[in-house]
Amino acid sequence: MNTRPDWLEILLHCKENVKAKIQPYLKTELAEQPVLGTGAGGDPMKPVDLAAEKAIVEVLEHHLNAFTLVSEESGVTKFGMNPAQCYVIVDPIDGTTNFIRGLPFYATSIAVSTMPLLSTVFAALVTDLFHDTTYTAIKGGGAHCDGKRIATSQLTTLEDAVIGLDLNSYKVKAIAPYISDLIERTGHVRHFGANALELCYVAEGLTEAFVDVRGKLRVTDMAAGYLILKEAGGVITSPEGKALDATLDPVQKIKFIASGNKQLHRKILGLVRLKC
Ligand code: IPD
Ligand code: CA
Repeated sequence: MNTRPDWLEILLHCKENVKAKIQPYLKTELAEQPVLGTGAGGDPMKPVDLAAEKAIVEVLEHHLNAFTLVSEESGVTKFGMNPAQCYVIVDPIDGTTNFIRGLPFYATSIAVSTMPLLSTVFAALVTDLFHDTTYTAIKGGGAHCDGKRIATSQLTTLEDAVIGLDLNSYKVKAIAPYISDLIERTGHVRHFGANALELCYVAEGLTEAFVDVRGKLRVTDMAAGYLILKEAGGVITSPEGKALDATLDPVQKIKFIASGNKQLHRKILGLVRLKC
């Protein structure tokens, strides 16, 4: 008999295993984290990234006969006889730099999709590994934080808004002209350093928007946050206001604007005049 997997249960099990398996890598006074090579997404790979990925794969193999893993670290790996039956998109540790320095803002991000496309993601989990706070969503079932339903902010005034803005780029001079009007009009700009979690902050209404138009973020970092935000009532589009989609591939980059509500989204789009 072919029963449908209970994705919420599987994702929560993955989270528990990651939490347990990253313990030895938590910052201690002398701990060094050697670079183990380059991950599929192009960034240096640290022991904690691999330990978290291994923890997720262990749980997936326990629950599923077949799946395709799309990971920022090991790339695309097919498991079982029919690996195209689902795609599991993983950023084992989002915010590795924060983790290594002991900055309390890093997460695990896992999304599940029927096809290798962002628009077909149907289950998601992002867990704040420092504060032990977990965001989940199943398509059509709303978004939750530690089991409680969450909804985005309905604030529409930029002057009062808290907006996350990722300017972490060597090409900031090229981006700055497009986002300077937004910065000038926004009351409070933030960047915490783990974009999966920053999308969940918009989903929960802790911030009003999150903007990443660098063209540097991998789709693996935001696939889960994308569904959680949408299920919480938020809006996420390309910087030109088009519906967002991308191939779920570890090297695929993406630019987006995510907002708590349509009215604020229109205001931000009007200010971020990016021609991609
Ligand atoms: C990073 C974080 C960070 C963003 C970087 C990402 P990683 O993810 O999301 O906020 O500025 O572009 O690479 O590399 O720690 O998974
Ligand atoms: Ca990562």
